Amino acid sequence: MSDEVLTITDLGKNFGAVTALRDVNLTVHAGEIVALLGDNGAGKSTLMNIICGSQPADAGSIKVKGGELTSLADARRLGVGVVYQDLALAPDLSVAENLFLGNEIVRTVGPLRIVDRPAMRSAAKKAIEHLGISTLRDVRLPVLSLSGGQRQVLAVARAMKWAENVILLDEPTAALGPKQVGMVLDSIKRAADHGLGVILVSHDIPSVLKLADRVVVLRHGTIVADVPPAGLSVSDVVTVMVGED
Ligand SMILES: Nc1ncnc2c1ncn2[C@@H]1O[C@H](COP(=O)(O)OP(=O)(O)OP(=O)(O)O)[C@@H](O)[C@H]1O
Ligand SMILES: [Mg+2]
Repeated sequence: MSDEVLTITDLGKNFGAVTALRDVNLTVHAGEIVALLGDNGAGKSTLMNIICGSQPADAGSIKVKGGELTSLADARRLGVGVVYQDLALAPDLSVAENLFLGNEIVRTVGPLRIVDRPAMRSAAKKAIEHLGISTLRDVRLPVLSLSGGQRQVLAVARAMKWAENVILLDEPTAALGPKQVGMVLDSIKRAADHGLGVILVSHDIPSVLKLADRVVVLRHGTIVADVPPAGLSVSDVVTVMVGED
């Protein structure tokens, strides 16, 4: 694979005396799924927060297709999307309205600016068809009527719709049943098939070994493995995660 979408160079981050990240170097290519693994406190969320511009780094740089990223505004401009653990969906709003949350289609009628719900519904329908998602057929349904898995799929779909280069997912399958996990993993696969670079934080090592193109392990803020998953067992991964000592 050639086309690099994300380039992380010599990244460092401290919280007082705690070194959360040290000398982190990582590249992600278009269409690639990178699983980011590590024990509690290894620095996974800190790394994700810096990549999406919500926390500053102390050292090093983040580049998306060559463009420097240091803020949330940069992340948005450079096409980096995030699926947060709590999803950040609005439960009272419909699938279509959630898909366009913060990017509403607005129409002007005389002096008024009104949200164009019919336009959003038809654009949402098209987007969901285009993304090949079959579990969200009715875009008028409110999110509170969806299952946990359907909500996760919607959150991934929203990130896919607005992110052009990179999508970050922190624990997207936590607390889901097996069928719903399958649904969410399919939608992540689809994001990669659409050419996005994906970084996936998960404690579900068996699923990750099946899905990811590369497995990156953080230990005490340092990358200790960056390897293809072929031939790795769950216990191999756990050994690398926790270390020999
Ligand atoms: N805002 C903060 N202030 C102080 N220390 C922090 C802060 N955020 C993270 N840390 C510390 O940085 C280290 C890495 O934390 P981080 O949340 O990135 O770990 P993680 O790999 O996401 O862990 P988990 O699997 O538990 O989510 C930990 O030692 C944590 O205590
Ligand atoms: Mg975390």
